Amino acid sequence: MGQVLSVLDLQKVYEVKRSAFSVQKDLINALCGVSLELDKGKTTGIVGESGSGKSTLARCILLLERPDGGTISFLGRDLLNMPKGELKALRRQMQIIFQDPYSSLNPRKRIFDTIAEPLLFHGIVDRRDVKDKVMEILKNVGLDEDFINKYPHEMSGGQRQRVAIGRSLTTDPALIIADEPVSSLDVSIQAQIVNLFLDIKERTDIAMLFVSHDLNVVRFVSDEIVVMYKGRVVEAGLKDEVFLGPLHPYTKMLINAAKGEYSRREEDTSYDKGNGCPYYARCEERKDCCRESVPPLTGSKDHSVACFSVS
Ligand SMILES: Nc1ncnc2c1ncn2[C@@H]1O[C@H](COP(=O)(O)OP(=O)(O)OP(=O)(O)O)[C@@H](O)[C@H]1O
Ligand SMILES: [Mg+2]
Repeated sequence: MGQVLSVLDLQKVYEVKRSAFSVQKDLINALCGVSLELDKGKTTGIVGESGSGKSTLARCILLLERPDGGTISFLGRDLLNMPKGELKALRRQMQIIFQDPYSSLNPRKRIFDTIAEPLLFHGIVDRRDVKDKVMEILKNVGLDEDFINKYPHEMSGGQRQRVAIGRSLTTDPALIIADEPVSSLDVSIQAQIVNLFLDIKERTDIAMLFVSHDLNVVRFVSDEIVVMYKGRVVEAGLKDEVFLGPLHPYTKMLINAAKGEYSRREEDTSYDKGNGCPYYARCEERKDCCRESVPPLTGSKDHSVACFSVS
């Protein structure tokens, strides 16, 4: 199995003004040492509540944003230190699918052009064959040929997301990053799109990072799971290891919440978040030592956790 992506100790800090007129700035550690690896044909689900850094991680890997530290290796190449010319060819091999397909599709373009343009631009097919190729891609994402003349506004959310997925497949990518790709869709449509991802996973050897706050969705599509909390990986491993034997109190809480058994401790804001475990204030299993330092991620490749309560 070839490795597609290896992220090591990724850091990203945002500076935000405390208020509109203030000169004081707050630092937000959106990513504090995130690492993960992804092999060909595999899907890793990234879960964590709002603000945990999931999208920041996605944007950094796609070089839509420059991380402040760490390394990203993609297809064996050091992404953060590449000559611009070579980067262009590599970027083609990674594609993103966003939450809202309406904003990611050009409203003035027919579906035919949306899919044909990257095919022609990258010289993947010549003009003579482009129509057949567009049809084939539409078919692969479950849309019939009538769609080629439609505009995004003439389609449903699920159909638009199918087009966005089809477009992402045009460049024959090694990696697709899907950031909450079903969250904006009706629940009844979500399952169809999730099944389409599963179908792509079975038919191709594309590696996928699948970001979602919905554990049931993630569980369905993923081989491995990464649980993020406040910019850190708190638990990671094979899907069944994490879902059937969660170790981190935060993961347990997420899984219970997904089952509807929700209990939540209010955040204790008096706690200085700089030194100890980021989850300390909400933790059901906290100990005194958890205030002293941030627990490191320990364990095996199959299952690792960052928690002092787990030994
Ligand atoms: N451009 C930015 N400028 C300043 N702060 C930012 C920026 N982007 C993200 N952040 C902050 O970084 C942290 C992580 O944000 P991020 O969007 O990555 O979280 P997320 O896990 O994707 O959340 P959600 O589930 O809501 O999409 C948050 O505290 C957020 O406010
Ligand atoms: Mg996000």
